[in-house]
Amino acid sequence: MDFGGDTGLWQRKIAESLEGSARRMAIFEALAIETGQSILDLGCGGGHLVREIALATGDNGRVVGLDASAEQLKAAVELCADLPAVELIEGDATDLPFEDGTFDGLASIQMLEYITEVNRALDEARRVLKRGGKAAFISVLWEHWRFHGADPSLNDRMHHIWRAHCSHQMLPLEMPRKLLASGFNGIVRKPIAFFNGTMHENAFARWAAKIVAAFAVGKGVEEEDALLWLNQLSTANKEGRFGFVSVPVVTTAIAD
Ligand SMILES: C[S@@+](CC[C@H](N)C(=O)[O-])C[C@H]1O[C@@H](n2cnc3c(N)ncnc32)[C@H](O)[C@@H]1O
Repeated sequence: MDFGGDTGLWQRKIAESLEGSARRMAIFEALAIETGQSILDLGCGGGHLVREIALATGDNGRVVGLDASAEQLKAAVELCADLPAVELIEGDATDLPFEDGTFDGLASIQMLEYITEVNRALDEARRVLKRGGKAAFISVLWEHWRFHGADPSLNDRMHHIWRAHCSHQMLPLEMPRKLLASGFNGIVRKPIAFFNGTMHENAFARWAAKIVAAFAVGKGVEEEDALLWLNQLSTANKEGRFGFVSVPVVTTAIAD
């Protein structure tokens, strides 16, 4: 999935949404971040988590955001321009440019499911963490990620096409086994499910629907069908019968 252009812009709107903030709160709770720590954010996107962590770890801390998309990083550089402890690096989570045992903590929000070789990314995550360092990964149970309110057959079609947007549909189910194999222990999972009942300007669903429609057009759906789906959701919203459900899961682990 390409996070450039409009998709990147809408993804950053998602990060700014109320539900985006809730995901960052969950990471803070899981990592128990302290002043002066060194923390790595894998797939940092527009830098929202990096910024909030750097405000917490302070000028004596070190916060590194790594992302594969130059456009996302450009937005992150702008967002974190006033924070000297922040470093933003273009790179791949499966091949990290850091020494062994560099970081006290590691976070990653909705990035692992886009990587084919998740095991390699988890091996790298373990390698760059200090022994006893904490990692917190948020991935989504995509089979339960669903818009409600559009015509059922068009809605099914859009969700079916959307499956191709990432490599792993149900990664939280696989995380404990994969983390143990990569040298983590103390694995705990916590769901942070949410429901949007309206598509206001700061709702996750408003921007996610645009991303789905654009992705579907890229996969060969007629533009008028994608627009029809968006209009049906908008009508359902006006009529008070719109809904959107997502079940992200925070998986926390300790480097053995
Ligand atoms: C859904 S966005 C999430 C961004 C951010 N974590 C947030 O919560 O707003 C996924 C991000 O992962 C990045 N990404 C995908 N594959 C990657 C890889 N192999 N290495 C590093 N970043 C990657 C994308 O460029 C994108 O910015």
